Amino acid sequence: MSLSRRRLLGGLSAIGAASAVGIQILAGVRGSSSTGELLPSRIGLPKPFRLPFRVPPVLAPARSDATGDYYRVTQRAALVEILPGVRTPIWGYEGLFPGPTIRSVRGRRTVVTHTNELPVPVVVHLHGGHTPAGQDGFPADLLYPAGWTGDMMTGGVMAHGRRDYVYPMTQPAATLWYHDHRMDFTGPAVWRGLAGFHLISDPAEDALGLPAGDRDLPVMIADRSFDADGSLRYPSLDPSLLHTPGVREPYGSGVLGDVILVNGVPWPVAEVPAARHRLRLLNASNARRYRLTLDPPGPLVQVGADGGLLESPVAQEAVEIAPGERFDVVVDFGRYRPGQVVTMRNEFGDHTTTAVMRFRVGAAVPDPSRVPDRLAPAPAAAGPAVMTRDLRFRHGKVNGMAGWTINGAAFDPARPAATPRLGDTEIWRLSSDFHHPIHLHLASFRVLSRGIGGPGPYDQGPKDTVDLRPAEQASILVRFADHPGRYVFHCHNLEHEDMGMMGVFAVRP
Ligand code: C2O
Ligand code: CU
Ligand code: CU
Repeated sequence: MSLSRRRLLGGLSAIGAASAVGIQILAGVRGSSSTGELLPSRIGLPKPFRLPFRVPPVLAPARSDATGDYYRVTQRAALVEILPGVRTPIWGYEGLFPGPTIRSVRGRRTVVTHTNELPVPVVVHLHGGHTPAGQDGFPADLLYPAGWTGDMMTGGVMAHGRRDYVYPMTQPAATLWYHDHRMDFTGPAVWRGLAGFHLISDPAEDALGLPAGDRDLPVMIADRSFDADGSLRYPSLDPSLLHTPGVREPYGSGVLGDVILVNGVPWPVAEVPAARHRLRLLNASNARRYRLTLDPPGPLVQVGADGGLLESPVAQEAVEIAPGERFDVVVDFGRYRPGQVVTMRNEFGDHTTTAVMRFRVGAAVPDPSRVPDRLAPAPAAAGPAVMTRDLRFRHGKVNGMAGWTINGAAFDPARPAATPRLGDTEIWRLSSDFHHPIHLHLASFRVLSRGIGGPGPYDQGPKDTVDLRPAEQASILVRFADHPGRYVFHCHNLEHEDMGMMGVFAVRP
């Protein structure tokens, strides 16, 4: 039992009777498309569609050799302008929010040396990476700041000042992202800015002719709220993020912001030539789900999911995206008139959260891109499932206090909930009470069914996060290939994750 975990329980006891909290949680989810509670900003918000869209800078390798590329990232506090004329303190990779984009090529090892200049320990997780256990960002494998004199947590691998994360990058092309994953404090750390893209390309994908270069746009969507002084508002019990984890009620069901940031810019507008563009949609919000549409309507042609390309493109009228999920879509702005304005809306939003961003369509230009009918080979047939596990994701008591549980238990890094054998295929039957986007580290999976039906319209392709809606059951087929060791699976509503809804699976060699 770690120091931190005991403090979690102590911290949550401060907020009062569990039953009252339960009622507040119910009030926070009834009839809504996200499980969470709106935290209003206390500062005047800008009008949407006034600020330019921008793409996070691509990080250049510090060096490269025959087998790989070596990057350096410093995590530090910075002051940035998010709202016009307002300075906002953030925590960022290279002092940026989003962090710089890292681009890997399949087959070339990627080594990222992280230096921690923040006032707290950190953990870096590459979400979607098929990563060896020691490099995956297990929530107790902490990277402390240099010269740390505070408390130390036991039960994990620790480093001081800096450490390398080594990624073999043997997996197919995909849109991954990296973010903080410290046990009990992931929600506030990501909210403060610790998130960035990590894209993998491969020659097979390059040969398809999908929109590329400056027509390949990463789109990180994240809601935030701002305080009167311009700082990011978040209801931490302990704003130092050192001692007591958790959030004030009624935010234990999830924190929803009222400002929609796209790549760190509130409701931006992108000038785009009238040509096909690839949008790599990532929901990096703590708790908010989105239903994204274009206005005037136009298809979002889905070419990829969390773990890589679909077998064939799917024209979606809308994309429903939960925290942690990615959808790679192609939008043909050549279908619109030059000068036309196309708005990406969130049909799950209200008031300020109905708008996401806008595109202003420029002149017609030559467009060599295409979207072929075949994008990727069918997945290799998995062996027969050797076992079926039932995992229930529910609101529940965590040592007598309100929290979130898996099969009735809160996260315990020392007690695996599942011990699959390396190479085995299993079926996991996941069920929910509220909205719980369930994410597995290490392995991509396929969604087999939802309830008594087949997979839903947003379940196609290789997934690492499945968007469970209230009182829903989904079955996934997962093969524990690649690496043995200790990994986590959890709800990607980050407040749920921090308040217990995470489990360990240990892959036996
Ligand atoms: Cu996006 Cu366990 O993480
Ligand atoms: Cu992950
Ligand atoms: Cu959840």
